[in-house]
Amino acid sequence: MAGRVQDKVIVVAGAGSVGPGWGNGKASAVLYAREGARLYLIDRDAEAVEETRRLVAAEGVDVHATAGDLTDNATVARLLADCVARFGRLDVMHNNVGGSEPGGVAEMDEATWDRQINHNLKTVYLGCHHAIPHMRQGGGGAIVNLASVAGYRHIGAPINAYAAAKAGVVQLSRAIGVQYAKEKIRCNTVVPGLMHTPLVEVRLAGQRGGGDAEALIAKRNSQVPMGHMGDAWDVAYAALYLASDEAKYVTATEIVVDGGLVMSAPI
Ligand SMILES: NC(=O)c1ccc[n+]([C@@H]2O[C@H](COP(=O)([O-])OP(=O)(O)OC[C@H]3O[C@@H](n4cnc5c(N)ncnc54)[C@H](O)[C@@H]3O)[C@@H](O)[C@H]2O)c1
Repeated sequence: MAGRVQDKVIVVAGAGSVGPGWGNGKASAVLYAREGARLYLIDRDAEAVEETRRLVAAEGVDVHATAGDLTDNATVARLLADCVARFGRLDVMHNNVGGSEPGGVAEMDEATWDRQINHNLKTVYLGCHHAIPHMRQGGGGAIVNLASVAGYRHIGAPINAYAAAKAGVVQLSRAIGVQYAKEKIRCNTVVPGLMHTPLVEVRLAGQRGGGDAEALIAKRNSQVPMGHMGDAWDVAYAALYLASDEAKYVTATEIVVDGGLVMSAPI
C-alpha cells in the first residue's frame, strides 16, 4: 500500500536530536520514511544526523545524511542543490531548527538576540529561500516550518527573543503560503506546545529548572489542560499531514499541537 508521502523527496533540516530519545526533527524524519518518502537529512551535528540516517534507512527507504550549518546561506544553497542532484527533485522542505535562550530584553545582550534570530528565524528564511526555486522547477511543493506556542503567548519563562523569532516564523509562513499559492507551493507551520523531547532534560532543566529535571517536568505537565506534555510523535503526525497531499487545500496556516495550552488561562 502506498504511504502518505510515497516517493516524495523530503529535506529535514535539523534532523538530529540534542540528546538520546526522540526529538521533533528525528521523529518527523522516521515517520516520513515509514510513509514512503525519500529523505535528505541535514544537521550541524554529524553524529546526531548519522543516527537519524540509520533509523530512516532501517525503514527501507532511500536516505542521504550530511552535516551542515543551516544558518549559513552558501551551505543551505549547496546542500539543497545536492539533494536535487541526488534525488532529482525536492518536494517537501521541513525546517525544524530552533530552540530558546533565556532572557528578557533588558537582560539580553545583542549577541544573544542576534544568535536567537539567526537560529530560529533566519534558518527558516534560508530553507524557504533556497527550496522554492527547486519546488518551482518540480511544479510545486510543501514547506513545513516549526514554531512554538511561545510565538503566540507568554508561557511563563523569560524567552523574549525566541518568542519574537517564533512569531516571525508563523507570519513569514503565512506570507509565503499566500505569495506562492499560484505556483502550487504550500507553506504551513506546526506550533508545538510543551513537548517532552530530549531537550527538556539536556538543555531546559539547566536553563529554567535550576538543574532539577523532575521538577521542571512536573511543572510543564501541570501547565497543560490535558495534564501532560506531548511528545515528538505528536509533532511528527501534524507535519506528516501538512507535507502530504491530504493537505492539498491547506496553506498559510498553522496546526497547534499543545494539549489545549494556548486556549487556557492560568488557574
Ligand atoms: N521540545 C519542545 O518542547 C518544543 C516546543 C516548542 C517548539 N519546539 C521546536 O521544535 C524544534 C526542534 O525540536 P527538536 O525536538 O527536534 O529539537 P532538538 O534540539 O533535539 O533538535 C534540533 C536539531 O537541530 C540541530 N541544529 C541546531 N542548530 C543547527 C544549525 N544551525 N544547523 C543545522 N542543524 C542545527 C541540532 O544539532 C539538533 O540535532 C525547534 O524549532 C523548537 O523551537 C520544541
